[in-house]
Amino acid sequence: MIKSEFNKSLDIRDENITPYIPFILKDLWALGGNPDAVIKILKQHVALKEDSQIIDLGCGKGATVIELAKTFPGNYKGIDIIPEFIEEGNARIRENQLSETVVLRQGNMCETIAAPVKYDVVIYGHDSDAFGSIAKTLQVLSKKINDDGSIIYETAFHDGRYKGTGYFSEEALYSEIKNSGLQIIAQLKWNREYIRRQNEANNRLIEKRIEQLKEQRPDQCRLFDNFYLNQIRESNILDEYVECVTFVLKQGELL
Ligand SMILES: C[S@@+](CC[C@H](N)C(=O)[O-])C[C@H]1O[C@@H](n2cnc3c(N)ncnc32)[C@H](O)[C@@H]1O
Repeated sequence: MIKSEFNKSLDIRDENITPYIPFILKDLWALGGNPDAVIKILKQHVALKEDSQIIDLGCGKGATVIELAKTFPGNYKGIDIIPEFIEEGNARIRENQLSETVVLRQGNMCETIAAPVKYDVVIYGHDSDAFGSIAKTLQVLSKKINDDGSIIYETAFHDGRYKGTGYFSEEALYSEIKNSGLQIIAQLKWNREYIRRQNEANNRLIEKRIEQLKEQRPDQCRLFDNFYLNQIRESNILDEYVECVTFVLKQGELL
């Protein structure tokens, strides 16, 4: 695993914060993905059956697969590198009596995709370039789905006013998808107001945990404050300039 990509996936700028991440994010459930949007778009565009195989790469606490398993048939798997996230997800699975259909595993998703197994649905939130940039990532993911399988791809684009380097423009995003050879079956832009309110609520929960950490480790106040300030900065960029979108993608027609 490339460490910088792991850091990027959780907006980590100083690696010293990494051991504190499970504590800081303890009160959050979905960690950036949008399970509601995935449920909505799957309902309309993907028929899941009892024997369907679904995997979420970088599943966090498993929010998406657990919510899906409550709604649809199928066998769900989630992979995340942080053991504490997997433990929290497993507790939810037990609470919801979903142990028969949902399995979360701690592991590196880059190793998972190297295994010769294919799925009916692959879910991926593009939070870092662990598999490369958009076209490359989609080419990698396309090898993990069956001929009629679907990729649920969560990503974001900027609205043209953004001058940073973290996001593609909408036009560049579509061009990357086209270059991957995959077909867009459906797309769902996230409700911006809902996301803004959710980010605000999450940031309040993060702030509470940061304050607790500062009391426990006053010598590390700067580290904790910097992490929190960066969270606020990233949220502000999302609120102001960025639109998030969930796609259903399938293999393109063979020529
Ligand atoms: C922004 S979070 C999103 C998590 C989840 N999709 C959700 O919405 O709740 C990104 C996740 O990717 C995981 N991650 C990053 N690199 C990884 C890797 N190489 N293998 C497995 N998980 C990874 C992180 O631990 C983190 O939980």
